[in-house]
Amino acid sequence: MRPLRGIGVRQVRITCGLILFSYLLWHFTNHALGNISFEVMEAGLQYHFMFWRNPVVETVFYTAAIVHWMLGLWALYERRQFRYPLPEITQLVLGLSIPFLIVVHLGSRLQAPLFDRDLDYAHSFVAYWISRPYMRWVQFALLTVAWTHGCIGLYFWLRLKRSFPAVAPYLLAVAVLLPTLALLGLIQGAREVVALYATPEWRDANLSPGSTASPAERAVLDTIELYAAVAYAGVLALILGARAVRLLGERHGGIISLKYPDGRVVRVPRGTSVLEASLRNRIPHASVCGGRARCSTCRIRIVGDPRVLPEPSSREAFVLERVGVGADPSIRLACQLRPQSDIAFYPLFPPQMTADMLRRSVRFRADEERYLVSMFIDMRRSTSMAEKRLPFDTMFFINRFVAAVAGAVEEAGGKANQFVGDGVLALFGLACGPELACRGALDAIGRIAVNIDRLNTEFAHDLTEPIRFGIGVHGGEVVVGDVGYKEHVVFTALGDAVNVAARLQDLTKELGCEVLISEEVCRRAGLTSDAASAQEVTVRGRSVPLGVRRVERARSVSAVSA
Ligand code: FES
Repeated sequence: MRPLRGIGVRQVRITCGLILFSYLLWHFTNHALGNISFEVMEAGLQYHFMFWRNPVVETVFYTAAIVHWMLGLWALYERRQFRYPLPEITQLVLGLSIPFLIVVHLGSRLQAPLFDRDLDYAHSFVAYWISRPYMRWVQFALLTVAWTHGCIGLYFWLRLKRSFPAVAPYLLAVAVLLPTLALLGLIQGAREVVALYATPEWRDANLSPGSTASPAERAVLDTIELYAAVAYAGVLALILGARAVRLLGERHGGIISLKYPDGRVVRVPRGTSVLEASLRNRIPHASVCGGRARCSTCRIRIVGDPRVLPEPSSREAFVLERVGVGADPSIRLACQLRPQSDIAFYPLFPPQMTADMLRRSVRFRADEERYLVSMFIDMRRSTSMAEKRLPFDTMFFINRFVAAVAGAVEEAGGKANQFVGDGVLALFGLACGPELACRGALDAIGRIAVNIDRLNTEFAHDLTEPIRFGIGVHGGEVVVGDVGYKEHVVFTALGDAVNVAARLQDLTKELGCEVLISEEVCRRAGLTSDAASAQEVTVRGRSVPLGVRRVERARSVSAVSA
């Protein structure tokens, strides 16, 4: 089943983490009710019990907790090195410390199954603020650590999503405000209970004998907590021991060489992933998702025979297929590939790749060929404008021109892809089929004309002559992908159709018109043959003439394409 192929250990861990985080959200909201009053938070707790103590929900919750915990331990075993960014290390350390803090909290939770006694807020406040005051700090630490661990995990999960920049400020507000309100709610509620505790009537009504742990019961709970803490410490020690044994085995199993494109060779134990080898040797390597097999930015191309590589896991194969390189066995994910013999490779993304760059890039299959309409829009006589004005003035007008063009392109469904001086390359068809792309391009021409007319009216007193422009439009199969060096990587289109559009724009000067649209685009857009004058032009670099429509005034295109 194809959808299931994409489910790996990380996906299960995220799902379990989300279930746990939803518990935290509810629990924190309930604590925050203490800012209203102790009675309100106590009433809210009944709803909390009603939902989370439902047998089905309880089973799901505890299963998620156990699976999440075990997969966390597995990750600790799996990692070959810890040279990761600070947030990841923080998340790991906090995650490992949560069980210790939960163990101290275990006494409260076990009172229901062991002594048939549910601890409400009143009993918890008496226990943590009056009987054992140090416990409140343990509770605060548990809340803070669990919340921070969950928020970092959520951040890693969400930051690759396109909608993340839009929702991030709201999420940040919730991430900061909710725990603050929860802690304040607890303090407020506890203050009320401490005051009430001073009145014998309240104590008689709420803390009847048997409703709190007797010294014998407390001793049982303390023993359980102690054994649980020791057992968890033992599990951690076992994992560290298993890591040491594996390390010895790997050293014994042989060392392999990885050769980087700059000729550098690193030697690592067999079984180390390529990304781990890069990080361990401080070689910058793109890995936006931190090696979680999600982003595919760690992609490498193997130089030589890829048949010597181990088969990709189902998750790796899924990710490679998703980005359109599943059929090429020489492309692999560095975070998943654990070569068993010497290899040479080169990374496909610059190491400076960030989540932001990844989000901004249009998600296409790498090196995919697809039909796009390319449009070049050039501002006329900007050089002579520059000669007569201060550089600042010239830049101002060029920026206004570019903004007017880009705005029109986007309104028509295209994307202003590149800005070269006073020229703009716009692409249509990134999110639609060829026919719509062609119609969108024609629509954009009219809109550009309207925007530039407005600009000319606005600056009529400042310009010695109106701003003029030339537009060339052509459509065809092009290769789309990221081009650039280091952090200057842009998503763009390359191919004959782009070059032809640029040359048509050049030809508008020679033919004394504002727009030249290739016959190809007109035909697909359904433009009638008498709507604009058809002719053939010779385009530099092409042996056969190209059929085009010559449009003297761009403004008229909206009329002919309507
Ligand atoms: S680092 Fe993200 S997929 Fe490898």
